[in-house]
Amino acid sequence: PVIVPPGVAFLNGHFTAENIITKTTRSGDLVGVFQDDAAWRALPADTPIYQVEMLQSPQGEGELFVGTTHLNPGRVGDEFYMTRGHFHQRREQGEVYFGLRGSGLLLLQSEQGEARLEQVSPGSVHIIPGNTAHRLINTGSEVLSALAVWPTIAGHDYASLAQGFKQRVFLREGKIQAKEVQNG
Ligand code: PA5
Ligand code: NI
Repeated sequence: PVIVPPGVAFLNGHFTAENIITKTTRSGDLVGVFQDDAAWRALPADTPIYQVEMLQSPQGEGELFVGTTHLNPGRVGDEFYMTRGHFHQRREQGEVYFGLRGSGLLLLQSEQGEARLEQVSPGSVHIIPGNTAHRLINTGSEVLSALAVWPTIAGHDYASLAQGFKQRVFLREGKIQAKEVQNG
């Protein structure tokens, strides 16, 4: 017998499988993430910013997680909605992102603080090397969905980026503008 594996719907990036685990991150969870603190406070704390859905998979050395992030369109002040962003706890572990719908940016940053942006669009493939922090930014007007595959042993280290990434992306004068920042 041939096994029918889970699928991902190209139209909306949702998995076609049962037993999906989902986690919603709301505005109130993202303390200190956006630059404009007053604008962040003005947003109701229960405003959903992004949702991650994950397939169930075995865990341990050599195993992989598969998940899709759905990042809503919107801005806090003039800064686009984004994920919290992280290094992997196991720093050397990489990850692959695959754009499914919407348009945005993948912000990548080395341990030395060098940041770069990759354009995310349906079908874009992003190889995130080890030792590289990553954050999705939705610069479009629809939901940005991207599938990710990463080692289950990688873990998340959010604390190392408590000062923020070195670049922020804003809508200013009607244009998408990336700005270097000193301290997040
Ligand atoms: O593994 C990943 O990099 C993604 O699945 C992210 O965890 C997801 O986009 C949510 O971002 P964060 O973990 O930074 O809140
Ligand atoms: Ni990751």
